[in-house]
Amino acid sequence: MSGIETLQNSFETYFNHRHFPISPATLYNPLEEFLSNSGKRIRPVLCLMGNELFGEISDDAYHLAAAVELFHNFSLVHDDIMDKAPLRRGKPTVHSAHGESTALLGGDVMMVVAYDYINKVNAKYIKDVIRLFNQTAKEVCEGQQLDMDFEKLDLVSMDDYLHMISQKTSVLLAASLQLGAIVGGASDNNQQHIYSFGKNLGIAFQIQDDYLDAFGDPEKFGKQVGGDIKSNKKTFLMIHALATANSDELDLLNQLMRENPSDKVEKVLDIFKACGIDKWANELKESYLQKALSDLDEIAVSKVRKEPLMQLANYLISRDK
Ligand code: IPE
Ligand code: IPE
Ligand code: MG
Ligand code: MG
Ligand code: MG
Repeated sequence: MSGIETLQNSFETYFNHRHFPISPATLYNPLEEFLSNSGKRIRPVLCLMGNELFGEISDDAYHLAAAVELFHNFSLVHDDIMDKAPLRRGKPTVHSAHGESTALLGGDVMMVVAYDYINKVNAKYIKDVIRLFNQTAKEVCEGQQLDMDFEKLDLVSMDDYLHMISQKTSVLLAASLQLGAIVGGASDNNQQHIYSFGKNLGIAFQIQDDYLDAFGDPEKFGKQVGGDIKSNKKTFLMIHALATANSDELDLLNQLMRENPSDKVEKVLDIFKACGIDKWANELKESYLQKALSDLDEIAVSKVRKEPLMQLANYLISRDK
């Protein structure tokens, strides 16, 4: 069984080549640069782990790992336009460096190239693969729309937030695992359990992302810290603060969201801290980690085969970038 780093490295070896034609360079060079400024490669690692759970890692698993990474990168490039984000992976975002038209088209073409990789998969798996991939892609768009809609709402419930993050983020982690399992010949039952593991883990993963957006170390995080606060995102931090703040804090919070003063981020962070956000964040992550681990228990393979997934789950909820 292979650990996180081994799989990150072997995916890199497979993926590290030119993905697009030379011309027009104004479209393709920014994409090559973006893809090679590698992120954590979590989704490909999940796909390979989901595959190795059921046997030796196959070529099909690598094709699907590339497809999910391309889809993910497409979603990030478009997400950065939507979130008006200046930084990604420690560099200027595609739209801020090259303009929105390039970022829109670039995202589109990455999505198309994802299907080129899917097209390499053994024909006997193609129907199941495309069904899951397309269902996931639609759900990600739905989650992204909810995320944007919630910016404009004064109150969002914790359940609405959890639904939104499971759509925008966790279904792709879940699908990455299941895609690996499909081409590993896993039974339907095992596929359902691994999907559910990924969905619960993905919720914990987005909770950590939202935490880092507020409290991360800018040097390590690679994205603008405080971006979610600036755009009035209804993360669990904001929802918890709105539900537990005293009336003075609540008035201030609402005023900060309405007026967007230059010291908004610091002031909102102070309120988050006063509302005991660290404890709440840890409890929330831990509860989804436990749900994920009990899904993992249900998968009918030996315990030792599950160790890399346990290691990955623990890393994902405690990471600092
Ligand atoms: C960022 O995902 C977008 C979210 C769903 C939170 P990652 O944190 O996996 O981004 P990279 O690929 O490692 O940069
Ligand atoms: C993005 O969530 C999820 C998708 C890209 C689908 P965020 O907006 O929180 O991701 P980051 O923080 O910009 O990476
Ligand atoms: Mg977003
Ligand atoms: Mg974003
Ligand atoms: Mg975020």
